[in-house]
Amino acid sequence: MADETKTAKLTIGDKTVELPVFTPTAGPDVIDIRKLYGQAGVFTYDPGFTSTASCDSTITFIDGDEGVLLHRGYPIGELAEKSHYLEVCYLLLYGELPSPTELEDFEDRVTNHTMLHEQMMNFFRGFRRDAHPMAVMVGVVGAMSAFYHDSTDINDEWQREVASIRLIAKMPTIAAMAYKYTIGQPFVYPRNDLDYASNFLRMCFAVPAEDYVVDPILSRAMDRIFTLHADHEQNASTSTVRLASSSGANPFACIAAGIACLWGPAHGGANQACLEMLKEIGTPDRIPEYIARAKDKDDPFRLMGFGHRVYKNFDPRATVMKQSADEVLELLGVENNPTLQVAKELEKQALEDPYFSDKKLFPNVDFYSGIILEAMGFPTSMFTPIFALARTVGWISQWKEQLNDPQLKIGRPRQLYLGETQRSYTDIENR
Ligand code: CMC
Repeated sequence: MADETKTAKLTIGDKTVELPVFTPTAGPDVIDIRKLYGQAGVFTYDPGFTSTASCDSTITFIDGDEGVLLHRGYPIGELAEKSHYLEVCYLLLYGELPSPTELEDFEDRVTNHTMLHEQMMNFFRGFRRDAHPMAVMVGVVGAMSAFYHDSTDINDEWQREVASIRLIAKMPTIAAMAYKYTIGQPFVYPRNDLDYASNFLRMCFAVPAEDYVVDPILSRAMDRIFTLHADHEQNASTSTVRLASSSGANPFACIAAGIACLWGPAHGGANQACLEMLKEIGTPDRIPEYIARAKDKDDPFRLMGFGHRVYKNFDPRATVMKQSADEVLELLGVENNPTLQVAKELEKQALEDPYFSDKKLFPNVDFYSGIILEAMGFPTSMFTPIFALARTVGWISQWKEQLNDPQLKIGRPRQLYLGETQRSYTDIENR
């Protein structure tokens, strides 16, 4: 917990209470209201948590006004350029960059857990072929609690560690199998001689009749997409994982809850929604029509891949993603990809429009990621599962941090009740 450096005074009617104020290592001060109800008999009201810190954390820091994202203090741009996903996983989980032997050991541990219990295949086969892969992932990850009993005891540090490694290792296998199932192809088993991203690409695109030789540039681009999605402090799905875990639920159940939350179009589902929107726009001449719709208060349409609760400046992940889109499309010889042209023109027109600049709406990570993923051969339905597999390490790091917090309490928000006050039951014949 941060040091208490100041106090805040809150006056309600004729009562004044003093509340401690914590100063973080970075970011705005935080007023500690935990004793407010006891002292003043009032709750605070903040649906959507726009002004509320739900926990203290040392993992990720975002300065939304400046467009800064740091993992354990390291800027995301530097990590995307110089590091790679499994090293970032280590950093998020353990707090420091690994030494060469620590990294080798970590990679070995992850690699040796990539296979799924064979009986889990039956779960996949129980789904309809046209199931969304996110539906399959929620089910299969939740079902891991029924298979890996030796890593569900959250009070055992060793079991927590094994669960963490298992989840990071098996998520690409699960996502790839969910994909293979929906397209009616046989599952492709992981191969431990491949790196994390290459293994995932191969499990998605190889078939028994023909192996898939992974292009190192595509593998690097995949790894970068994973890195850019690895963690993002207390977003909706991470908060869901923390809330689920606060009751003592097992790690697989908590991560399944996170996947369910991520699925929504305002969160991880935005990458799928964004590419579908770009395709629907189709040609640059139709952009003004869509911008007008996004500005129209009576139209629920929003520019997908635009805006963010925290970033009121460029999302630093979007900058790297845009560069990556250019590189990957050039490599694949599709630099004149019409969707990329629409995306670039839409970004330009939106940024020139005062509606978006006044509201500080900028492209977010999802604006360009779908274009890269589609160029790699993924259907839109796989975009959010890829986000989920990449974010798993963030969820787990936050889950572990919370379990190590001696002040952990079950999450239990209060409410502003606006319903009926107590009244007597009326018998049905008198209604
Ligand atoms: N297009 C048009 N108007 C928008 C957009 C948009 N994409 N985003 C926000 N606005 C407007 C909104 O109508 C509101 O206007 P007003 O103040 O006049 O009512 C104002 O901007 C503030 O919006 P808000 O909904 O109160 O902001 P929020 O912080 O609750 O929502 C958001 C953040 C990401 C849900 C929202 O910007 C959005 O729906 N964006 C599109 C979906 C998207 O791209 N999501 C991915 C987020 S990044 C990846 C991730 O975290 O999962």
